[in-house]
Amino acid sequence: MSQNDCLHIDSTNVMPFVDRERIDEKAELARAVARQLERREGPGSDFLGWLDLPVAANGPELSRMEDLAEQAGQDSDVVVVIGIGGSYLGAEAALSALCDLTSGPEILFAGTHLSSPALSRMLRRVEGRDIRLVVISKSGTTLEPAAAFRLFRDLMVRRYGRENAARRITAVTDASRGALRSMSDEEGYETFVIPDDVGGRFSVLTPVGLLPLAIAGLDVRALLGGAAAMRERCAGADLWENPAHLYAAARSALYDEGYWVEVLSSFHADVGPLQEWWKQLFGESEGKEERGIFPASCRFTTDLHSLGQYLQDGRRELFETFLMVDGGQPDLVVPLDAAEPGGVDLDRDGLAYLVGRSLDDINTKAFEGTRNAHTDGGVPNLTITVPTLDERVIGSLFYFFEKAVAISGRMLGVNPFDQPGVEAYKKEMFRLLGKPGA
Ligand code: PA5
Repeated sequence: MSQNDCLHIDSTNVMPFVDRERIDEKAELARAVARQLERREGPGSDFLGWLDLPVAANGPELSRMEDLAEQAGQDSDVVVVIGIGGSYLGAEAALSALCDLTSGPEILFAGTHLSSPALSRMLRRVEGRDIRLVVISKSGTTLEPAAAFRLFRDLMVRRYGRENAARRITAVTDASRGALRSMSDEEGYETFVIPDDVGGRFSVLTPVGLLPLAIAGLDVRALLGGAAAMRERCAGADLWENPAHLYAAARSALYDEGYWVEVLSSFHADVGPLQEWWKQLFGESEGKEERGIFPASCRFTTDLHSLGQYLQDGRRELFETFLMVDGGQPDLVVPLDAAEPGGVDLDRDGLAYLVGRSLDDINTKAFEGTRNAHTDGGVPNLTITVPTLDERVIGSLFYFFEKAVAISGRMLGVNPFDQPGVEAYKKEMFRLLGKPGA
């Protein structure tokens, strides 16, 4: 399989629900929007820095991240990454998907909520262990990570003293603005910059994602390489060779037909956090001005025993995108139910017909059966398949989804790069908390 073949989209099960001419029209629109993005034009054009990150991020800052990762591997048992939304979801997604490839200190994520039992548990969990903090916030003022940072900073200063604690704290933030920037300069924390022209949910290929992944021992250069190959592929004009255009065109055509909920379904347990990253990327980019496809997710086969009922029989306004991973662990096979090694199968659980078959094979049949049933039940669907889970593939998936949502959001007529709606709850919360000036 060549580098550019690492992701495949099957749109066969969209066609019965949408006219072929509609797809062709949408493909034309996708090409026009992509040209607009390339020329750095249109709504939100100040936030298109992510388009070039697969090549731009491969500079001296990357070596500094790798040096810090090596240092953390020597002096820390655990690294707490503090951030919320776009400032942690990408790193968590890659870490989970690539969990079999990680090494180095344990990575924990904090600052992702305001729930006291979970945060107290995490503070207890790091007791007596050598710790580093990576605090990530572009604005430098977001409440959840700022509150968690205060608690962990307090713990670090008590344990190591102010100066030594500062050597163990790294901040990823804006070059010049925000409370985290000024505190970092005052305390002498090592810092990495989030470029001005890259928004939170498009920042996984900046130090926001790359630093935690480097600390986890992952090959961030390979990840950028995968993204760079996808960047080239998504620049092509042919709809059937350009996955970002095909995905955006199919989604837009389905939306016009009244399908306004998209369920990203997976049969691979380790991609759950990637589905969460996708939900943020698509939800925050498209859901505005009373428009947009609502992004939901299912983890199969688990959710076939819960939401599967709705997917099969509920309101017919949803479509499904299966995110499939080939490969797996083919040596995990169903063993004999035998009283003695090598004996006859007693078949007490009725599974003798599966003896010798791999779990991957059974999982694939579960997928095929589900896709057939959902198609018959009136759920249009796409299948995105990748050959394996490694750094290159994850890098290519990140870039593919980013490019697709940028095109899809613009096709919808919204600015995919702002998030005015998230301010409303903050304003009310700060008023209730008595924040000065709120
Ligand atoms: O995508 C976004 O812009 C948001 O999800 C942000 O990433 C999130 O709100 C965190 O913001 P910040 O990095 O400024 O703390």
